[in-house]
Amino acid sequence: MTTTSKRRKKRFGRNRTRQVDAEDRQSVLDALGDMPIQRDLLIEYLHKLQDQYKHISAGHIVALADLMKLAPTEIYEVATFYHHFDVVADGQPIPPGLTVRVCDSVTCELFGSELLVSSLQASLGDDVRVQRVPCVGRCDEAPVAVVGKNAIPRATLSQVSDMVREGSTVITTQPDWIRIEEYRRDGGYKAYEACRAGSLTYEHILDELESSGLRGLGGVANLTGSDSTSADGCQHR
Ligand code: FES
Repeated sequence: MTTTSKRRKKRFGRNRTRQVDAEDRQSVLDALGDMPIQRDLLIEYLHKLQDQYKHISAGHIVALADLMKLAPTEIYEVATFYHHFDVVADGQPIPPGLTVRVCDSVTCELFGSELLVSSLQASLGDDVRVQRVPCVGRCDEAPVAVVGKNAIPRATLSQVSDMVREGSTVITTQPDWIRIEEYRRDGGYKAYEACRAGSLTYEHILDELESSGLRGLGGVANLTGSDSTSADGCQHR
């Protein structure tokens, strides 16, 4: 946990007996609309609040906790785990309406994310927040920037600036996906089934992994089949 989040947690922790403010409660109800109140929908509620108010206040957390019959700290822990949510303590400034997130994990850094961050900070002005974030799960398209909710693969300064100027903050293209039945029909999972059936040797599987060139998507980008010690100190093979 960072020093800032520790400080924030302390500030929230003091409000253990805080009463629900009627206005905050109404704000939460407005954001949730006709969604049912279910604990497994917590992340969805947080997205609704973030989308509507561009931040999640301490009052929102207390009101949501009351609606969900949870402790405010439980909501706080979830909300502060993800960089998508801007949890703002009482008296703290509300962040600008638009955030550009730039992945600064290893693969993106190797592909120039540091320069991208500093160039964006210098050119986008005070109305747009530029934030470094950990791996956004698109390491094969590094460096990746996300304008609002719109991920930009192999991002450049001019691309990101154009997106910001045009207000392209939501995803407009559908991923090219197929249904699992179709994937299986086309031969998907055949190798997996062969592994489970024991019809592939251990050596054959390792050779396949090594020659595939597959890399992990956790940010360190180790080769899946490599025989090496990674930055996390683990022996991979
Ligand atoms: S998306 Fe940048 S390292 Fe994964």
